[in-house]
Parts: sequence; C-alpha cells; structure tokens
Amino acid sequence: MDIKKLLQKMTLEQKIAQLCQFSARCLVADETGELTGPAKDLNLSMKDIACCGSTLTFADANSMIAIQKKHMELDPNKIPLLFMHDVIHGYRTIYPIQLALGASWDADIVKKCSRMSARESAAGGVHVTFAPMVDLVRDARWGRCMESCGEDPYLNSVMARAQVEGYQGNLDSDEDICACVKHFAAYGAAESGKDYNTVDMSEYNLRENYLCAYKSAVEAGAQMIMASFNTINGVPSIANKWLLKDVLRDEWGFDKPIISDYSAFAELVNHGYCSDEKECAKAALDATADIEMMSVCYLRNLTSLLEEGRIKEEQIDECVLRILELKDKLGLFENPYRGANPEKEKALALCPEHRAIAREAAQKCAVLLKNDNILPLNKNTKNIAVIGPWSDVGMLGEWPAHGEPSETVTVIEGVKNALNNANVTMAKGCNGVLNELPDDELINEAVCAAEKADAVILCIGEHSKQSGEAHSRADITLSPAQIKLVKEVCAVNKNSVCVLFCGRPIVLTDIIDTVPAIFVAWQPGTEAGNAVADLIFGDVNFEGRLPMTFPLHLGQVPIYYNQMNTGRPKLVPNQIFTSGYIDYPNDPLFPFGYGLSYTSFEISSPVLSKTQMNKGDKVVVSARVKNTGAVAGKTVVQLYIRDLFASRTRPVKELKGFEKVYLEPGEEKEVSFEITEKELAFHTASGKFEAEAGDFHIFVALDSTSKDLVTLTLK
Ligand code: GLC
Repeated sequence: MDIKKLLQKMTLEQKIAQLCQFSARCLVADETGELTGPAKDLNLSMKDIACCGSTLTFADANSMIAIQKKHMELDPNKIPLLFMHDVIHGYRTIYPIQLALGASWDADIVKKCSRMSARESAAGGVHVTFAPMVDLVRDARWGRCMESCGEDPYLNSVMARAQVEGYQGNLDSDEDICACVKHFAAYGAAESGKDYNTVDMSEYNLRENYLCAYKSAVEAGAQMIMASFNTINGVPSIANKWLLKDVLRDEWGFDKPIISDYSAFAELVNHGYCSDEKECAKAALDATADIEMMSVCYLRNLTSLLEEGRIKEEQIDECVLRILELKDKLGLFENPYRGANPEKEKALALCPEHRAIAREAAQKCAVLLKNDNILPLNKNTKNIAVIGPWSDVGMLGEWPAHGEPSETVTVIEGVKNALNNANVTMAKGCNGVLNELPDDELINEAVCAAEKADAVILCIGEHSKQSGEAHSRADITLSPAQIKLVKEVCAVNKNSVCVLFCGRPIVLTDIIDTVPAIFVAWQPGTEAGNAVADLIFGDVNFEGRLPMTFPLHLGQVPIYYNQMNTGRPKLVPNQIFTSGYIDYPNDPLFPFGYGLSYTSFEISSPVLSKTQMNKGDKVVVSARVKNTGAVAGKTVVQLYIRDLFASRTRPVKELKGFEKVYLEPGEEKEVSFEITEKELAFHTASGKFEAEAGDFHIFVALDSTSKDLVTLTLK
C-alpha cells in the first residue's frame, strides 16, 4: 500500500480519527442503533467512530471479523482497524504471571510462553498485545509487581527481549503479533507503592535502573510503546516531550507508534498539567504521542488547534503515517482479517501442547524457600489434607485475558491427579480475605483434617485479585487468620508444606520458623494444581530463584539488593551511627537470586583470566559449580559486579549475567562469563555511558549475598 498517497487522500477529520482508539464496546451499537456504555460516556457519534484507527478489548475472532467488516463498510478510505488486547500472560491457556516468569531465570521458557500466547491470540484476531510490561519494581506494596519481572534491570531486560521475540517472531507470519511494551516510563517507582502515584527520581537512577528494560524491548524490535499514567519529575509521561521525543525517538531511534494508557490524555487535567482537554491534545501532540486510548482530546480539539496555528498539520501527518506504516507492515490493507480464525482459535485453546507449556513454566517459576527434609512428599502417602483458602481456587493471576478460573487446575485437583488411591481431604481454614481475623470454627475444622492426615499441603497467600492494577497494599504480611491457621496446623502435623500464592513478595516472618517447608508458586495459571503437585511429590525439581527481595519486615519496603553503600554502611548488627534501623536488621528474609533445590550445590571462588584489563579489552571470569546432593537439579549461576570508586556512587552489587546449569548428582561444571567494558559501564557524572578506570569486585555466585569475590582492575 502506498501510504503516503493514501495520506494525501485523507481529510483532516479522517486523519484525526486514525489517532483515536475506542474499545470494541464503543463500536457496537445496540439494537436501536444507539451507541451506549463507554461510547455514550464519551459522547461518541457513529461519525466519530466510523474512521477510528484502532480498538481494544474485544471478545474473539468472530467478534473481530464482525467489527472489522462493519468498519470496512463505514470507512471511506477502507483503512482497517488495528485490534489490540491485554494478552499479558496468555490468551486462553494462561501461564504464570510475569513476576513468576522473572523467577524462572529462563529466557527460553519465557519466549516459549510468549510464542504460545501469540499463536492463540493471533487466531483470536489480535494484532497488538499490550505487553510485555517491563516496569522495574522495588516496592512490594505496588499491585502491579505481578506484571513485572522484578527489581533488577538486567533480569528485566533479558525477559523483555525474550517476550518481544516470542510475540513478534519476524512479523512475517499471521501467528506473529506486535508487542506494545509498557508502561513508559518508571511506572513501577510510584511513591509509597500506590498505583498511579508520583514518580520523582534523578535522571541517573532513571537511566541506570528504570529505562533499561524498555530500551531492551525497543532494541528487540517492539512495534509500539505505551506511555505510563505517572508523572516523572513533575511531567506526566504522555505529555513528556523529553521522555517521548528526546529519549525514546531521538536517542533510541524509536519511529513507531506511541499509545497512551487508558484515558491518560484527559487525565493531564487531573494531574494539574493541562487546564483543559484542548491543552491536553496540544501537549500530547507536541510530545509525539500517536494514539489516544479511550478519551477524545485529539478528536475534539486538533482541528481548532490547527486553525489557531498552535499546531502544524505535519505533526498530525507524522502520527498518522506511523500508524498506517504498522498496518501496512501487518498486511492489513491486503487482509484486514489477518490471523482471525475461529476454528483455529478454538482448536488451540487449552490444547494439550499449550497446557504442557503452561505446566512446564509453572514448574520452572516456583521458588523453594525452606525445606527441613519434608519435601518431596511420598507418592504412596495414604491420607493428604489440602488446607487453606486457595486449596480449591484456580490461581490464574490478574490480567487473565480469556482464561477461566473454572478451566484452571486447582491444588486439590492436582494432588488427586498425582496420587492414584490416596484419601485427599480439604479444609479452607479461613476465607483468604485481606486482614482477616481467625474464625475458630474454620481453624478447628482444618486442625481436625490435619490431625487425621499423614501429610498436609497448606495453600496460603494472595488470591489473584489481591494484586494487579489498582490493587496496591499497605500491608503485605499474611492475615492474622492465615498466620493462626498455619501455626495451628503445623502444631498438630509436622509433615506440613506451605504453598505461597502471591503476585508480589509477602512478609513471611510470622510463619517461617513454624513451617517445615515453603515454596512460592506465585500465580501459576491454567496448570497451577498440576505443577504444584509435580513439585511437591518430586516429579520435578525446583529451579526458580527470587526476582524480588522478600522483606523481613514491612517497614523495610522498598528493599532491594542493588542499593548504594552510603557513607555509613551497617557492616555489623547494632552498629550505631550507621544506615539502618534500631529495631530490625537491614537484611531481608530472602534475598534477590535466592532459591533452594531438592539437591545441593557448591560453587568455587571466581577466577579471572587476568586481573588487569585495558580499555577495549575483555576478560573471562569462571567458577566451578558442583551438584553435591543425591538428585539431579538446576541452579542459576549469577554474575555480579561492584564498581568500587566512580564519578557517581555505584551499587554494592549489580547483576550482569546468569546461566542456568543442569547437573547430575556429583557432576560439576565450569561456568564462565565474558566481562567487557559494557558490563562495567554506567551513566557517568559527565553524562556518558562508559566504564571508568578503577577496581571492580567480581562475584560468581548462587544468589546476591555472596561475599566471595575477585578484584579486576580496569586500566
Ligand atoms: C489499563 C492498564 C494498561 C492496559 C490498558 C488497556 O489501565 O494500565 O496496562 O494495557 O489499560 O487495558
């Protein structure tokens, strides 16, 4: 399609309409021909929607075909709609939430999941998914931890790339969908963990930590980027010309569409950044925002802004061209129904191959935190009690797209599937509501079940709906009811294992000394119960490692491993006049990168190929890792560095590489990482991204707490 020629044919009104995105509900009139619901709220007319450029949140392939067909009849230029959807961790077959994927430290399984999700959603008519979400997060109170791959820039960047590649392939197949990476930028740094809250930080911190994963996604070829709701240093992202134009477009070379988040244009008024929606339109256009999701600032104001000479038509043309280019790239002018295939959509949904991928991912994401020789449970156990509020609840996770809890394997089902003729009982013990107080009747019922059982599986933590957008929590400890349930059950049955479901780190300090064994299952998706059973009965071994720090106390939050040393580091407990608390230590309950296995591993001290490195040079650091246990297993060998002295203070540790290693009992392997200036570089005081000469501590470890180091000098 000659899109420049097409642009010349379009009227101003039609160009402006191309920049508008309305949900599918807005595009379907009721039987009287009236536009109802959100369309009515936005005061939309049939004329307004006739030429709009894209839509979001629609039902399925049939719905897409019907909407597109009607649109092609209405649009005088026959410009197809782009169909977008929140396919965050699966379309129909749901895999673990992103925070769990971060815990897998396995880019291959993450890519495999994204690929599966692309196949299913493309058949459903999806052209663009509002994913991956790559917002770095350090504050466990934030509801959207569950959508992120955690607290580390490098781990987030690796997973961002894997997801973009999984979704997009080469964009030459109708099973490929476009990735719209979000939320640009630093949405996860919301003050006090409150969703949508203020973000205020130095450009240094922004570039060193918060921008890395978006950049990784852009470099991987993401076809769209969504600006975030929040302000950065007083300017809301969607109107932030420095962020969108100077950094994203001019510095990173991103020449594709930028879309707002839901009604974020209009919310510039709430922010107190624009006096009315006309100013919103001007600010967003000047920042080169292309698509306005679910508000009408562009629709209602661009014409008058042009007439008043406050904007140029070229600005509108640039936005329209970026959108038409994407439609052309997807071949929509030749086939407006690209990918949509109701029969294929049905055949792929929850198919055995996809269920197997979801199950494998859920196995790989789980993190074993403690095991006092309780796990794995014996499959010949005769009486098992599954206890807790989430025993029979489908743990899909928030943003489940078209996944259904009813299609999700619960723990009780998974245990029954795993054990042929065991007697499996269940007791809720509590209801799982936030801050719930103990109900003695429910507790007693659970204690009775525990007393009669040979082993107990406790299903505790958060329901899928207790994290996610607009679901930040001030208190991330377990409820009094869950704490009492765990203590009373463990008191009568020592053979008890805890499964923690959660969309964020939870403070486990109240129960960690009581439970003999506990692992984090996160929110595992469609195959939750089967994966949990696979792990509990030892059919698979744990291999996950924490992507976010688990606090010892709520008051430590935000707590993360790659912090600065400060001028007064607390090197020993109770050291006065140092950076810490008088009532709790600085250390977390479980650190970033931590996780146990059914076997054990040892790692040797790191060895450098040479201890001096010139600019332009590279060195190799190696260590030998050994399986010192009785069963095979995987561990994650992690490369950390520390820049001891620099033109800006540097973190006490930074992850710069990792490798997951499978070892048979007794087997050992040398793991090596190449270190170049890139691994040592940072945003210096002079504003460059480069490595500065000096000494670096190099760690090759099994989690972020290792003290075993070797010193490298960059000349
Ligand atoms: C929501 C979310 C965003 C999502 C969008 C469309 O408010 O912030 O992540 O993609 O709206 O549903």
